[in-house]
Amino acid sequence: MTTASEQQESLRMERILIIAGNSRQQELLKRAFTGYDSPLELVTADSAEEGLRIIERAGVNAVILDDSPVGMSGEVFLRELSSRGMNLPVIVLHGPHNGEAAVPGPDDPYEWLTKDEGYLERLPRVYAALRKRYLFDILTKSQRLWQETFDAISDYVLVIDESSKIIKCNLAFAKDCGMHPREIVGMKCQELHRFGTINTCISEQLSKHGSAYTEEVTCDDKVFLASGFPVTLPGGRRASVHILKDITEMYRLKEKLYHSDKLASLGLLVSGVAHELNNSLTGVLGYTELLKRTRKGDGSLERGLEKIYSSAERCKKIVENLLYFSGKRPPQRGYIQINELIDSTIALREYWLRSNSIKVIRDYGDVPLVHIDTQQMQQVLMNILVNAEYAITEADREERSIRFHTFYIEEKDAVAVEISDNGTGIPDDILPRIFDPFFTTKPLNKGSGLGLSISHGIVKEHNGNIIVRSSFGEGTTFCIELPRQRKAS
Ligand SMILES: Nc1ncnc2c1ncn2[C@@H]1O[C@H](COP(=O)(O)OP(=O)(O)OP(=O)(O)O)[C@@H](O)[C@H]1O
Ligand SMILES: [Mg+2]
Repeated sequence: MTTASEQQESLRMERILIIAGNSRQQELLKRAFTGYDSPLELVTADSAEEGLRIIERAGVNAVILDDSPVGMSGEVFLRELSSRGMNLPVIVLHGPHNGEAAVPGPDDPYEWLTKDEGYLERLPRVYAALRKRYLFDILTKSQRLWQETFDAISDYVLVIDESSKIIKCNLAFAKDCGMHPREIVGMKCQELHRFGTINTCISEQLSKHGSAYTEEVTCDDKVFLASGFPVTLPGGRRASVHILKDITEMYRLKEKLYHSDKLASLGLLVSGVAHELNNSLTGVLGYTELLKRTRKGDGSLERGLEKIYSSAERCKKIVENLLYFSGKRPPQRGYIQINELIDSTIALREYWLRSNSIKVIRDYGDVPLVHIDTQQMQQVLMNILVNAEYAITEADREERSIRFHTFYIEEKDAVAVEISDNGTGIPDDILPRIFDPFFTTKPLNKGSGLGLSISHGIVKEHNGNIIVRSSFGEGTTFCIELPRQRKAS
């Protein structure tokens, strides 16, 4: 049994296989390496076939093949080696007469040495140069492979030393900082906040952990799952490797699930309260109506009762809308007057619109009934309305308005609803993405990016169309086209 130190020694020791047809030549070649300056183990084989077996079984670091009769020419032997996937430095010794084949490819670790005068003295030097070239080549290739693998990772990878200095980072991280990895190496991670979107919060998290950790880190409007592991670098230098995975989308989805769960319970609550209010309001309206009749002619009292009646009626309408909006039921389509549906949607947001001084302009055309699911279409209108409100409050305007314009498109036999706002508008580069699920420009917890994708789905389900026009800095218009009647599929 070999000991660990013997194993290490044998790893360090270079094993050269000498293939030569007679023992005298083998002996001469062995002797050529007397006094070679690193430890060598010289093994011999009488034929190329035997040599291949030794290589396969025991493994060698290099081969010296004497092109004298060994059962295979040097060229055939090299081809055989490469067909078996063995990439080894090989020196082929050949007579002066067959020097034709002596041209190794640029990547071949082969050398052809003519057996002329003094070749035995030159052999160790040729071997040393070939071995060096071969090792350098392996090193370069593995370095390139490692670097390319490192840079192909889309998560951020950083290696940081104990003084928070960045020793290495991958391309994804550098790109997000708007820099080249070379510029980042050597910087203290706290310094990074000056560049790009990675600010101090990540760098502080990274530097504060001495042992392995995994935790969520929020930075700007992104959420990362950060993991760090201690590592000892060559030379005993202590450092840590950190991997940061962008989980913002996943986080938003989680938020959305919580949100819809909350909405579902809120819906239940609202429908319960709305029922109660509805019953009480029916009483208020009934009694006011009665009083109005009995106190007819009593000037100020009659006016007061009129006001109570109209306010209670408005409340009842809102409550009915709430009941409708929170109702859980299978999709039901009916022939609906879209102008009325818009009115009831606006009524749900009326308080909010008023308190934000947003003027609602109703520019309703005389449009035919459309065959739609009222609740779903109200959801679409509500999504667009809420987006418009948000965009308006983000823009600094003296006059804030949302305009609902409905009209009939004869050639398509469809009803169109245009909702225009004078909010921030949408920049050209993000316009094509706004219907994508989870696309949002709103801060975390403010938007999940599902509103428009759901709206798009609903409108398509109705065989309709939804398009957007926007001018950045001026405002946005969404146009929904709904065919009058659902086409038979
Ligand atoms: N009227 C608008 N003005 C400006 N930008 C808009 C408007 N409507 C939509 N957007 C842009 O489109 C993005 C996607 O809108 P969407 O309704 O799908 O998601 P959200 O409003 O961000 O989140 P959610 O509706 O799920 O709460 C918004 O984040 C915003 O950038
Ligand atoms: Mg939205």
